[in-house]
Amino acid sequence: MGSAGILGTGRELPEKVITNFDLEKIVDTSDEWIRERTGIRERHQIAPGDTTSSLSIKAARKALEMAGITPQQLDLIICSTISPDMPLPSTAAFIQCGLGAPACCAFDLAAACSGFLFGATIAERFISTGKAKYALVVGAELLTPYLDWTDRATCVLFGDGVAAAVLGPAEPPSGILASELHTDGHYAEALYIPGGGTAHPASLETVRSGMHYVKMKGKELFKVAVRSMEEVSRSVLLQAGVGADQIDLVIPHQANQRINDAVRQRLGVAPEKVYSNIERIGNTSSASIPICLDECVRGGRIKKGDLVLMCAFGAGVTWGGMVMRW
Ligand code: ACO
Repeated sequence: MGSAGILGTGRELPEKVITNFDLEKIVDTSDEWIRERTGIRERHQIAPGDTTSSLSIKAARKALEMAGITPQQLDLIICSTISPDMPLPSTAAFIQCGLGAPACCAFDLAAACSGFLFGATIAERFISTGKAKYALVVGAELLTPYLDWTDRATCVLFGDGVAAAVLGPAEPPSGILASELHTDGHYAEALYIPGGGTAHPASLETVRSGMHYVKMKGKELFKVAVRSMEEVSRSVLLQAGVGADQIDLVIPHQANQRINDAVRQRLGVAPEKVYSNIERIGNTSSASIPICLDECVRGGRIKKGDLVLMCAFGAGVTWGGMVMRW
């Protein structure tokens, strides 16, 4: 069993930015409410013609370049997304083809905001067991097409963005030290897009009634999010044999600044050790953690040898944690 780690990262954010003040003009909300209740000031939005795979390919090329790997060396591609190019085929297939990677194991994974950690864990298992040498894991979410711009409870929260990571053999002590993943479907309808699948196939009626939009019971999820992220963080720290005080940087999923403040307090981590970009990016679901990671790696916030804890919670509900040494 070899050890695996992240060798390179890259992100791609659409140019267009929507501020809270822009939203004030289209829905009954205020910059003050959004900032105080979520921490968000602005988020990015795709341009016509942008697709999940087109942005993913750009992010992947940057990650491959940092890793010093060519697309031809990839033997696993995982695209974590709940906003694919289309229902069939997988967005991973478009990414594989667009990158010019050889025919390989490439698939999509739907674990919402925890999806990057699900993908990175699967890639780590492929690499550590010798089934793959280099893997590309993309967290790709273009969520604005799924937003009901008349529903102030959801449309202010989400944004578009994509980030990728290349995983491969790591030189100990670097690499992924522990990870853990969970799903509990009891909360499935607390955050969902009910229409367009087999339960409610797309029809004029599903579109008319807005069933193709994100629906969320935010209050119900808030407490579960805090509890799950705290518990899974404690568990992966224990498995890695690392104390919370030894962690150099915590990267939590960016759904709500208040969730992350509560998790930080419960773990007893200093505020300056917890990364946040929610103010600029909003909630980009499975792209959220790899976007943070790329900002930290390229911005010098993560240095060689640093211990990093990542934790996430999302629709499903899903949650997960990972400890790695950079
Ligand atoms: N602007 C102004 N008022 C608003 C807005 C808005 N944008 N949205 C809601 N309100 C109002 C509500 O109507 C309500 O008014 P009322 O008291 O008159 O009924 C009041 O504000 C309070 O609403 P709550 O929903 O109770 O607000 P809360 O403080 O819980 O914040 C939020 C809502 C931000 C959604 C929060 O609950 C949250 O972050 N929940 C967790 C979300 C999460 O973790 N999701 C999973 C990850 S995402 C993924 O997987 C894709």
